[in-house]
Amino acid sequence: MKVLSALAIAAALATSGAAFADADLAKKNACIACHDATAKKLGPTWKDVAAKHKGDKGAEAKLAEVIVKGSKGVYGKIPMPPQAKAAGDAAALAKWIMTH
Ligand code: HEC
Repeated sequence: MKVLSALAIAAALATSGAAFADADLAKKNACIACHDATAKKLGPTWKDVAAKHKGDKGAEAKLAEVIVKGSKGVYGKIPMPPQAKAAGDAAALAKWIMTH
């Protein structure tokens, strides 16, 4: 039983660890200056983005491209500047955003 509960704890830690890692990417790349999961800032909330692209199989690839190249006119008048420095993290960020 001890081994089993140790495994369960390890699995739980691994799962929450992954979630932290992706949230950390949003922090590291300063996305959180303009985005939040649920609070409207300059940019749309992660929830709004995930809802907009729900059911679209190509969403992750599309969003990864938007993150690097920027976007304007989709959600309003404020454009998103290109985040070229996030290129290496864009795929992971897009995937994480779609989990909201
Ligand atoms: C200076 C503010 C700002 C920063 C920094 C910023 N964004 Fe944005 N983001 C915006 C705005 C504004 C929009 C809406 C643009 C539009 O209406 O087309 C947006 C839109 C988006 C979208 C939606 C694209 C779509 O087509 O649905 C995603 C995904 C996104 N941002 C991810 C990110 C990620 C990831 C980062 C960090 C690497 C980031 N943003 C950094 C302002 C920002």
